[in-house]
Amino acid sequence: MSDSISQRKAEHLELAQRLSDEVNGNPGWSDIQLIHQALPGIDLDAIDLTTDLIGRTLSLPLIIAGMTGGHSGAVEVNRVLASAAEKMGVAIGVCSQRAALEHPELVGSYSVIRQEAPTAVVMGNIGISQLISYFENGKIERQIGALVEMVAADALAVHLNFLEEVIQPEGQTRARDALSALEAFVKASPVPIIAKETGGGLSLNVARTLRDIGVSALDVGGRGGTSFAAIEAERSKVRGDDRRSELGAALSTWGIPTAVSVRSCADVLPTIAVGGVRSGVDAAKSIALGAVAAGVGRPLLVCATQGEDAVLHWLDSFQFQLRSAMFLSGARRVQDLAATSRVVLGTTGEWFRQLGIE
Ligand SMILES: Cc1cc2nc3c(=O)[nH]c(=O)nc-3n(C[C@H](O)[C@H](O)[C@H](O)COP(=O)(O)O)c2cc1C
Repeated sequence: MSDSISQRKAEHLELAQRLSDEVNGNPGWSDIQLIHQALPGIDLDAIDLTTDLIGRTLSLPLIIAGMTGGHSGAVEVNRVLASAAEKMGVAIGVCSQRAALEHPELVGSYSVIRQEAPTAVVMGNIGISQLISYFENGKIERQIGALVEMVAADALAVHLNFLEEVIQPEGQTRARDALSALEAFVKASPVPIIAKETGGGLSLNVARTLRDIGVSALDVGGRGGTSFAAIEAERSKVRGDDRRSELGAALSTWGIPTAVSVRSCADVLPTIAVGGVRSGVDAAKSIALGAVAAGVGRPLLVCATQGEDAVLHWLDSFQFQLRSAMFLSGARRVQDLAATSRVVLGTTGEWFRQLGIE
């Protein structure tokens, strides 16, 4: 069993790097234009990049998205990402901790994050399907304690990933008790709960439902970044499961683009823009749409396999791009970006119009 979870995690790591993340459509950033301020009224160096997230201050409005853990190849990737997160003052997530709950010998591939990032904001992670089974078996409270303790988590992310599960060869598609399980988890948790998609995006109605059961923040996991539909379709193909691999192809452009999802959710709960954020300029646009911070996965994963210097270089570049975009928009603080003028063009503009989004 340990082998099969570990193998799946290792396959995700390998396929996420190999498959292009442009297979599932545009996240929307190219349609968002911030209005250039020829007289910014501030110095570039005076721009304040700090932001608050779940009651903590980040030096940069960035979260290294939860990606790995649960197999031997994850230890070094997590070590490198965590060390960089600590140095740059950004938050970091882990992937689903289920593997280590079931196989304690895998705990080290997650706890390395807290060892390397003693003061960073660290987010634990568990999937909604596991939560449903813990709920049915009366194990929610016990498992929360273990999840928090494993990485000394400041928050726990619950991933809502039915788009992935429906294509995954070993996917779980029982969703009836999902909301009850999540509500019980929120009530029992000593730390804030973040609800997170992994490629399908979150809609306004889902955001409101999550707010009403006490979820503290949202990570939209929108369409246009790493595609778990594509990753699971590839895994199904390799296993000769044509039905699921064909489903993956048919669903390749399913989901709410990240920019649309951010604007849909941002007035409901603190919202993190994740899914195809590839630069500090994309992040500036997402914050102008209402996000409190942006999250980045695949680009940092690719850097992490090259070593810590590559990750630090990427983060420094991201920081410079974000600072420059704020300067050219006349935004002194991160929260000022939400008040800057913008236009929404093309397909993203059409999504906004049809959904009645401003
Ligand atoms: C290899 C890999 C594994 C991932 N595993 C998880 C996971 O276990 N739990 C989760 O919530 N998200 C997981 N994600 C999704 C990321 O947190 C993020 O939502 C996604 O990569 C989109 O961001 P990106 O387009 O910047 O890569 C994973 C992503 C990658 C690349």
